Amino acid sequence: MSWEKGEQLYEGKAKRIFSVKGKNDVLWQDFKDQLTAFNAQKVEQLSGKGLLNCKITTLIFKYMQGNGVPTHFVESIGETALITKKLDMIALEVVVRNVLAGSTAKKFGIEEGKPLEKPLVEFYYKNDSLGDPFMSDDQALMLKLASPKEISDIKILALKVNDLLSELFKACDIRLVDFKIEIGRDASGHILLGDEISPDSCRLWDMKTSEKMDKDRFRRDLGQVKEMYQEVWNRLQKNWSQYV
Ligand code: TMP
Ligand code: ASP
Repeated sequence: MSWEKGEQLYEGKAKRIFSVKGKNDVLWQDFKDQLTAFNAQKVEQLSGKGLLNCKITTLIFKYMQGNGVPTHFVESIGETALITKKLDMIALEVVVRNVLAGSTAKKFGIEEGKPLEKPLVEFYYKNDSLGDPFMSDDQALMLKLASPKEISDIKILALKVNDLLSELFKACDIRLVDFKIEIGRDASGHILLGDEISPDSCRLWDMKTSEKMDKDRFRRDLGQVKEMYQEVWNRLQKNWSQYV
């Protein structure tokens, strides 16, 4: 299928979103080389990052679809862009944690690296000007971000994504510590996985060395950001070639 890029509709921190000429139900998403952290207080350009995140997201979304998780993915366009279904996005960042790290470890004064007995699902309100604050289920309902049924379905979906993603990375000798997903509704009101899944949106630790292979390398000035994203892609490509 051939797609023609239309006007730019939105520019986010990591992607630019365009319309597609003559099509009302899809979007053109370009992955940027920009890396940001701490609500964009820290910004850097990393040549080739967009390409790696686009490839990694494509493989993961094909794998999700192959395993019964509906996603917005339609087709890849070149090396840094995707055609996706147009969704009505729910203003939630849904985080799933298997090992305590990052903001929740800090909040409770617990050392990073504590494995959790069961996965923890958390909601954050997607709102840059408020700094994406933590939000309870009831707060999400109060703001009418989603219906009670949708909140319950989102949690079920997030846990299914966690099971599948943990297995995907385990085969690559990578521990899935935590990740963030975003969800939207399609034209019939069904909830779908949107946005991206990449080392920008996950914590990934090498199973043998515990080395960080994700955006914490940038957040914490650990260096070798691109090399680690490349290594994640190399391992995924090698172990899951059916989804390349
Ligand atoms: P946190 O520990 O900082 O709350 O992050 C949890 C997970 O969510 C981690 O894998 C990184 C990801 N994340 C994003 O994708 N975007 C964000 O804006 C933040 C704060 C975290
Ligand atoms: N994505 C957020 C930002 O761009 C925060 C983060 O990932 O640390 O600032």
